[in-house]
Amino acid sequence: MESARVAGFGITIFSEFSKLAAQLGAVNLGQGFPDFEGPPEIARAAIDAINAGSNQYAMTQGVPALKSAVAAHAKRFYGQTIDPVTQVGITAGATEAIFSAVQAFTVPGDEVVLFEPFYDSYLASVQMAGAVPRFVRLRAPDSQHSKWWLDDAELAAAFTSKTKLVIVNTPHNPIGKLFTREELLRIGELTKRAGAVLVSDEVYEHLVFDDAKHLRPATLPGFDEFTLTISSGGKSFSFTGWKVGWHLGRAELVSTVQKAHQWITFCTPAPFQLAIAKALELHDAHFASFTADYAKRRDFLTQALTRSGFEVLSCEGTYFLMARTDRFRRSGEDDVAFCRRLLMEHGLASIPPSVFYSPAHAPAAHGLARFAFCKTDKVLEAAAEKLAALR
Ligand SMILES: Cc1ncc(COP(=O)(O)O)c(C=O)c1O
Repeated sequence: MESARVAGFGITIFSEFSKLAAQLGAVNLGQGFPDFEGPPEIARAAIDAINAGSNQYAMTQGVPALKSAVAAHAKRFYGQTIDPVTQVGITAGATEAIFSAVQAFTVPGDEVVLFEPFYDSYLASVQMAGAVPRFVRLRAPDSQHSKWWLDDAELAAAFTSKTKLVIVNTPHNPIGKLFTREELLRIGELTKRAGAVLVSDEVYEHLVFDDAKHLRPATLPGFDEFTLTISSGGKSFSFTGWKVGWHLGRAELVSTVQKAHQWITFCTPAPFQLAIAKALELHDAHFASFTADYAKRRDFLTQALTRSGFEVLSCEGTYFLMARTDRFRRSGEDDVAFCRRLLMEHGLASIPPSVFYSPAHAPAAHGLARFAFCKTDKVLEAAAEKLAALR
């Protein structure tokens, strides 16, 4: 009965581990959503919008107030000049923008370049469109590289005459990498030469730490021609359940994505769009303290993991830490087995990162585990106790 389009999809490891964690009363650093509330005035704005009667279908392109707020936010943080009417579209989270973009820019047999590890919805979207993924590995830090890196020859080899789309995620889930200017210039050069579209998923744009700087690919010279930027309100304002996402770029790119979007969800819930418009207008101080709070959480969890014997890899952004598990791994144990044992025997849920790799490259993740730090101090302290017991 099942179509080939979905036949390969099972229940995700995220659902399985979250269910197990709840059953066991374990500390859950697995799934990447905050266990605390977003700004109360933004929650009130959604309630006010409902009470004021914003309860019918929104315009398919998005509510004008949110489109204007997206354009103003792009100007404030990146210096971009964006026409809110023609260069912004609203979707049900970044996930729908990604799905719509893959539908809109590829036909079966076209190729899509993905960087591995990848956020898992990319591959599912590519498979459902009948397109073909081409993987470029992001390689873990080693004796010659202090940060995650990519091999230029492998990158160039991923592009062919069939390449129609390239999906970059910066800041990157799960590795916390910010793509550098040099890397992005090279990716842009290859994308342009292929006549493809570069989709840049920036849902963690406000989660960048220390002196690191998030570079929006669309702001690099000439990139506006072929780059579609995607983001959403879930991570930046801690309202992941509202699923308000947006895409911005050249009018032709946006209207092409909107053609798919109108037949997928048609529109995104109106009251949440209005509330996220207010969130995007929050003062700079809100964004600064949001990032500073997360930096503290990252430092706390890094210390707890390091003290117990994990090697934590560099995390410039997002709310995830990747750690090497070699010190604890039993012989023959892969990341799924290790994370399951950590959960079942030690009461701490993480995510085995091989779910972010194609089967052929999954062994690259066997010695790693991903820990989310978008959690309250209480939960992070409980995690630290579990980790101390491992020592
Ligand atoms: C890299 C990345 N892109 C997109 C999403 C989904 O965003 P949204 O909830 O806005 O659909 C996530 C959520 O975890 C993510 O990590």
